[in-house]
Amino acid sequence: MSTLKISDGVVKDEVLVLGLTSTNSKGGIAIEAGDIAIDTKTILSLLVDMGATGKADEVTKLPGSHVRLMVFTGLGKKSATYSHETLRRAAGSASRALAGNSAATFSLPAKNLAEVAAVAEGAALGAYSFTEFRGSTKDDHKAPLKTITVHSKLASSAEAKASVVRAAIIAKYTYLVRDLINTPPSHLTPDSFTKKLAAVVKSAGGAKSGLKIQIWDEKQLKTQGFGGIIGVGQGSANPPRLLHISYTPKGKAVKRYAFVGKGITFDTGGLALKPALGMEAMKSDMSGAAAVSAAVIAIAELKLNVAIESWAPLAENMPSDTATRPSDVITMYGGKTIEVLNPDAEGRLVLGDALVKAQEEKDLDGIIDVATLTGAQVVALGTRTSAVMTNNNDFSSHFLKLAEISGESFWPMPLPIELRASLDSPVADMANVGERMGNMLVAGLFLKEFIANELPWLHLDIAGPAYNEGAAHGYTPVGGTGVALRTLVELAQFESKG
Ligand code: BES
Ligand code: MN
Ligand code: ZN
Repeated sequence: MSTLKISDGVVKDEVLVLGLTSTNSKGGIAIEAGDIAIDTKTILSLLVDMGATGKADEVTKLPGSHVRLMVFTGLGKKSATYSHETLRRAAGSASRALAGNSAATFSLPAKNLAEVAAVAEGAALGAYSFTEFRGSTKDDHKAPLKTITVHSKLASSAEAKASVVRAAIIAKYTYLVRDLINTPPSHLTPDSFTKKLAAVVKSAGGAKSGLKIQIWDEKQLKTQGFGGIIGVGQGSANPPRLLHISYTPKGKAVKRYAFVGKGITFDTGGLALKPALGMEAMKSDMSGAAAVSAAVIAIAELKLNVAIESWAPLAENMPSDTATRPSDVITMYGGKTIEVLNPDAEGRLVLGDALVKAQEEKDLDGIIDVATLTGAQVVALGTRTSAVMTNNNDFSSHFLKLAEISGESFWPMPLPIELRASLDSPVADMANVGERMGNMLVAGLFLKEFIANELPWLHLDIAGPAYNEGAAHGYTPVGGTGVALRTLVELAQFESKG
């Protein structure tokens, strides 16, 4: 994890990151140097010669005169102000391109504290690497920036320092989510997931910070009737778990939310075995669990005035002679019976149990589940936009506004009531799959059956955005992205301000 600082001092002898924009359609460019005055004339003609255009995700390096290296990161079209997400992505692209250097100062056009915070966040989020499982090739990979300094004339204010601290916390827990996702299933089982999180809770201060952790093992899950989690996990030699992390603020909590995340440490499809092509990406099927577990700890570290209960039902979905068969009937926590027509629709089974358990807390103001739930999500919205489904449009509009602030792309999806009948089963209360068309919505309707009518609920399907199988871009690396964490923290922060 890199160190994040803010300064208004003189920059010399080091790496300086500046913005570059395009001013017209004929290749015109302009430098956006933030609060640093630089003589742009000769530099601009050099940049033109090098073919720099200022478009997003373009990073151009030039040797500097006062500084060792000048790094120009694209901001797109020149404008009086740049969106927070534009700044975040530009800082992130530069940060990624600077792997191998130890320190850099970022001077981008950030005029106010929120913009400074966006630069800090993007730069920190871009400085990520995952090398735990490299042996002889470890040194072939350039290490990310160790020190990131955001340059701003606002540096001396207490608020500026606080926003940099916040950015560092966001980055630290986004790294945790990414690390968990990137960790291979050989090394991340339901049990080891809970142990890793227990260690993180401890290092975040544990009970002193208002954090409590509780873990159910397979015996407890069985005797207490968690038929969904058991049914999904019973085919695996790595038994299932339920992880609960709660955060209670020191003062009176203004709101209380439950977060529930899908935690399938590997999804083979079970006896409905997935084809080999692409199955490897299913190590990311615990992204929801990672996001909610990291979010609650981040919220505790930020000392926000909101109580959070995070729940992560964890299981490995494997085919074996003990696996749930298509047509088996299981009894979920709370008593609903489910005919498992397709063991590959397992996320909704573990989530159903955890959603019911989470609602035993009667003072909830809302409940949010986060899941890599359906391939249909990726078909509908692509790999960069997640879906939001709800029983409460006010809650969902509020969430979408916060997502906009955090720079995470979410889009509302309906829960058409006429699709619900397709989940009827001839033998049980419900089947786990229904109408194939609109599969993302059918999955949402299945989960809705486990939510009390009056409780505001959001279902976030992050199947595409959780795991980047393409090239790195902006502050997003290849592999686990950490999506949903920032908006969950933003929600707590919004409520905390009252
Ligand atoms: N984990 C998958 C969904 C998924 C697909 C996540 C692609 C990320 C990328 C989920 O458990 C699943 O297998 N869903 C099935 C449901 C179907 C059997 C009703 C799907 O979407 O195909
Ligand atoms: Mn599946
Ligand atoms: Zn799955």
